[in-house]
Amino acid sequence: MTILHVDSSINGENSVSRIISRSIIERLQAQEPAATVVRRDLVAQSLPHLTFEAFADSTILDEFLAADTVVVGAPMYNFGIPSHLKAWIDRLAVAGKTFRYTGNGAEGLAGGKKLIIASSRGGVFAPGTPSAAFDHQENYLRAFFGFLGITDITFVRAEGVAMGPEAREKAIAAARSEVTMLAA
Ligand SMILES: Cc1cc2nc3c(=O)[nH]c(=O)nc-3n(C[C@H](O)[C@H](O)[C@H](O)COP(=O)(O)O)c2cc1C
Repeated sequence: MTILHVDSSINGENSVSRIISRSIIERLQAQEPAATVVRRDLVAQSLPHLTFEAFADSTILDEFLAADTVVVGAPMYNFGIPSHLKAWIDRLAVAGKTFRYTGNGAEGLAGGKKLIIASSRGGVFAPGTPSAAFDHQENYLRAFFGFLGITDITFVRAEGVAMGPEAREKAIAAARSEVTMLAA
């Protein structure tokens, strides 16, 4: 079993999404001790904006395709995702490899993977809340990976983390407790 561990927060050790993604990896490793974990830190080693030439290098795509489980630390930045993460995503949608168009529309070709997203955000955007329509982070990630054919998507969310230290700790504790329910 291969697990790909991706992070995209610029906040280093203070990053909530990094705290959560790390605890997800620890949980998966506890369940699957023989699993290989591949690390992709998109801030320590950031990818340049996509160019047409970059499509010729399939390193990122191959690493993604080789993983059985993908864990992505994804903070909300300006209602969307960090540009570091977008540069990675831009290398995953490749016609004929991860999706194709048929007479019936688009078809995802990268199904069969498990995707776990460690989502962090300063405010509250959960479904049913007043700002839910501003969530272009989780909704975008669900749409994108769904387009690639991935149906097994779990969000472990810590939100409201900018609403005071107590709210932050509460949100992290709630996310950690969700992690204890995850199955490899
Ligand atoms: C550049 C930047 C943009 C942000 N934009 C938003 C935003 O649009 N909405 C929000 O609720 N929080 C926003 N935040 C707060 C982060 O979502 C929050 O601090 C979260 O914990 C970041 O994840 P991290 O701790 O893993 O870095 C932003 C933070 C940064 C650094």
